[in-house]
Amino acid sequence: MANIHQFDVVVVGAGGAGLMAGLYASRTAKTAVISKLYPTRSHTGAAQGGIGAALGNIEEDRPEWHTYDTVKGSDYLGDQDAIEFMCEEAPQAVLELEHMGLPFDRTPDGKISQRPFGGHTNNETGKPVRRAAHAADRTGHMILQTLYQQCLKNKVNFFDEYQVLDLLIVDGKAVGVVAVNLADGELHTFHAKSVIIATGGHGRIFEVTSNAYAYTGDGIAIAMRRGIPMEDMEFFQFHPTGIYKLGILITEGVRGEGGILINGQGERFMPKYAPTVKDLASRDVISRAIYTEIREGRGVDGKNYVWLDARPESIVKYAALDGRTNIDGTPYTITGEQLLAKLPDIVDFNRVYLGIDPVTQMMPIQPTAHYTMGGIPTNKYGEVVIDDKNTVMPGLYAAGECACVSVHGANRLGTNSLLDLVVFGKYAGLKAAEYANQAEFGKLPVDAEAATRSAFEALRNGSGKENAFDIAVEMKKVMFDEVGIYRSEKGMKIAIEKVRELRERYKQVKVTDTGKIFNTEMLNAWELGCMLEIAEVVAECALNRQESRGGHSREDFPNRDDVNWLKHTLAWWKDGKTAIDYKPVTITKYQPKARVY
Ligand code: FUM
Repeated sequence: MANIHQFDVVVVGAGGAGLMAGLYASRTAKTAVISKLYPTRSHTGAAQGGIGAALGNIEEDRPEWHTYDTVKGSDYLGDQDAIEFMCEEAPQAVLELEHMGLPFDRTPDGKISQRPFGGHTNNETGKPVRRAAHAADRTGHMILQTLYQQCLKNKVNFFDEYQVLDLLIVDGKAVGVVAVNLADGELHTFHAKSVIIATGGHGRIFEVTSNAYAYTGDGIAIAMRRGIPMEDMEFFQFHPTGIYKLGILITEGVRGEGGILINGQGERFMPKYAPTVKDLASRDVISRAIYTEIREGRGVDGKNYVWLDARPESIVKYAALDGRTNIDGTPYTITGEQLLAKLPDIVDFNRVYLGIDPVTQMMPIQPTAHYTMGGIPTNKYGEVVIDDKNTVMPGLYAAGECACVSVHGANRLGTNSLLDLVVFGKYAGLKAAEYANQAEFGKLPVDAEAATRSAFEALRNGSGKENAFDIAVEMKKVMFDEVGIYRSEKGMKIAIEKVRELRERYKQVKVTDTGKIFNTEMLNAWELGCMLEIAEVVAECALNRQESRGGHSREDFPNRDDVNWLKHTLAWWKDGKTAIDYKPVTITKYQPKARVY
């Protein structure tokens, strides 16, 4: 007997975007949130340094400065109408979180505290501005806890540890999803008027990443398999400061509090690459600078890392050299105790993972695969759009990292991910409920679970000899080496060929656990199938874009080319291959110009 559930709105994913969408939808529509994790374990919890909003609590700031910084940060690929919308909404969104109970840090006079972050500036002076509202270095964690509590209060129906495996589309409309209950391996069909995909990104296709194990791109893969195009998949962000080899995020908030980057020769190198904002340039600029230092032999001990120095005496020394002051004009200072209070998790991570104390020692860091700029194309209301004319697919919505609105374009500014998921999660929830409240339930396919069942049976009964873990290791390595910070035609062709070979080998994967109860081996194998397809699309789109822009940096095409490439990529997954087309970028106020930091 099939397990069929019916809800007006079904949200897939319980990170910040999914919870915000669920909360807003549940105010007027019967809503379920389905998540492969217990909600508060979602990857939003790993976001550290802050949420961007021009509150102006500590110094002058304006939403239009935030808008311009985001457009510039995106290397002019972001859609300016959507960016303006997000930045105008930002102050209200942060206040709403505060009113829900989020424990932001405070200024001495009780306002929400804000710190500088990369690429966020006072547009008149060009200097960094304090725009990131923060709760120590656990801002994402606090957002997750706060929104989850609000959802519980609002009686959202949660299906925890149910993994969504298929998206049901009938006659051009989304009508539901198929999921497996991890506890007993049973399939469930969720029949819905509106489906919101909020499943996060796919950083796990890379070897060194800040992303959680769960970040395997499931939502993107199932949408792609059902004919939804993906936008700008070539743009993947490398965060400059991951713990060497482990990839674990060391927040940009460290540099916001005055930390600096030092090469193996003991030199501070960022002034060479970004003379005005230095260690607070945008992430693509800093990640490339670190790689250049390493490639030119100035890594530490000839290895692939440099130092992040947050020792209070260094912070005070460089602040004095930079002329950084407190708001009252007094010299900027910080003590070990203050550092610990502002960045407790960072201090902890270093102590636990490396045996290093950042109060007295420098931290070894390297760029880490961090954020998916591309994804499921949506308009600013979270409605999924399926072609170059932005035609809306009825009943389908996406929000958060799996979506491409596009507010981040070719490079996201730090703090704009938390903002993105709160703002666009809200509008996706509102729109999905509004649609559901005037629509009838669409017809389900005759056997809605057929495709999922046969994919699972193929994995369960496979008699091949391939090991999914080995295939994953090879995919991650080739993607990191050849489709990473620097790219070239030769390297990307190697990556595409390798991923294709791995997709063939994947057909021979042998799953040793054939049971039904919490069969994580089988689910990991299924997730690997998603990642292999996504990796191929990422590499194909990157090979196709013959220019350098934001996070996409080609050694064979080192310049940005607005004449030929100021356009979004749309990529379809058709018969196991990538088909590419384009759509225009929305430009309102800001004509593209060279980025100078
Ligand atoms: O550096 C960080 O705290 C990360 C924030 C972000 O990705 O927005």
